[in-house]
Amino acid sequence: MTDVALFGAGRIGKIHAGNLVRQAGVRLRYVVDVNPTAAGELAQKYGAQVRSADQAFDDAAVKAVVIGSSTDTHADLIRRAATAKKAIFCEKPVDLSLTRARECQKTVIEAGITCLIGFQRRYDPTFAALKERLSAGEIGEPEMLVVTSRDPGAPPVDYIKVSGGIFKDMLIHDFDIFRWILGDEAASVYATGSCLTDPAIATAGDIDSTAVTIRTKKGRLAQINTSRRAAYGYDQRFEVLGSKGMLQAGNHRPTEVIAATAASVSRDKPEHFFLERYRVAYANEMAHFFDALATGALVRTSIDDGVKALELAEAATTSWREKRIVEL
Ligand SMILES: NC(=O)c1ccc[n+]([C@@H]2O[C@H](COP(=O)([O-])OP(=O)(O)OC[C@H]3O[C@@H](n4cnc5c(N)ncnc54)[C@H](O)[C@@H]3O)[C@@H](O)[C@H]2O)c1
Repeated sequence: MTDVALFGAGRIGKIHAGNLVRQAGVRLRYVVDVNPTAAGELAQKYGAQVRSADQAFDDAAVKAVVIGSSTDTHADLIRRAATAKKAIFCEKPVDLSLTRARECQKTVIEAGITCLIGFQRRYDPTFAALKERLSAGEIGEPEMLVVTSRDPGAPPVDYIKVSGGIFKDMLIHDFDIFRWILGDEAASVYATGSCLTDPAIATAGDIDSTAVTIRTKKGRLAQINTSRRAAYGYDQRFEVLGSKGMLQAGNHRPTEVIAATAASVSRDKPEHFFLERYRVAYANEMAHFFDALATGALVRTSIDDGVKALELAEAATTSWREKRIVEL
């Protein structure tokens, strides 16, 4: 039996708890959260116990930790878990500071432990099927990637103030998609952006709409367009143009019912937000983590991927602030 301690009993912690108790041979032993009510409710739901971080790290029976607590806690928890030789599943981003993220990477590598970073989009069945067909050569060599990533609405401004900015908070996932799909690293990044949906976001020093252009080391091109607001819901699409054709990954809808009337032909809007759209991806990601622990295989989204995506987010932030192309 693999005993696990879960850090964070918030939105994503609840999803991860539900997925991890479904893994064969895995037990949710402890829930750790600075909010005792949140910790107690989640622990009770799954027959776990509430513990402090010290107690969880000191217990040799705990072989793995799942970190779904607030972003500013990740680096310290990764460091402590690596030192205690516990396997790590940690939500994105590794940290908001590239320096601290690189220190975490070094600690993890030196400890020789498994560390998965939560880029769940790679585990989404539609995106993974596209990647498989791309790798099988169906459209030849990939040349261009266009990513559309729009949220249904912005988070509260208090969250935006501590989020690290749109590039580190939101586009970090799109930067990971870019690296994964094109199988290449960025040579240059140009990012521009505006505050178009809510002036309070500008007052908080951030933007809500971005357009990013990346050129890779092999000369491939990518465009990423994002918005914190889409009136029709969560819009998550991308297309890859290759030498022999194109592959597109579209949105998922709650149902495939189409209504045709004298007025219009209509269908469901995309699934509401990430908890719905990536429900299966989160489950697959958790299964992959414990499979990797059982078999000793490498994880598909490692701390190196976490650091690389953060490098791009940092470059995009600099590009936007300084209105210039950033070379990597
Ligand atoms: N991969 C994804 O799609 C995805 C989606 C949502 C959130 N996230 C990431 O997950 C993390 C949590 O986001 P959320 O939306 O669940 O936030 P949330 O605010 O709902 O939950 C965070 C929880 O962490 C707890 N916490 C704070 N400090 C702690 C500490 N020192 N030890 C233990 N618990 C602590 C809080 O009390 C809270 O219950 C963030 O880093 C976020 O970037 C990833």
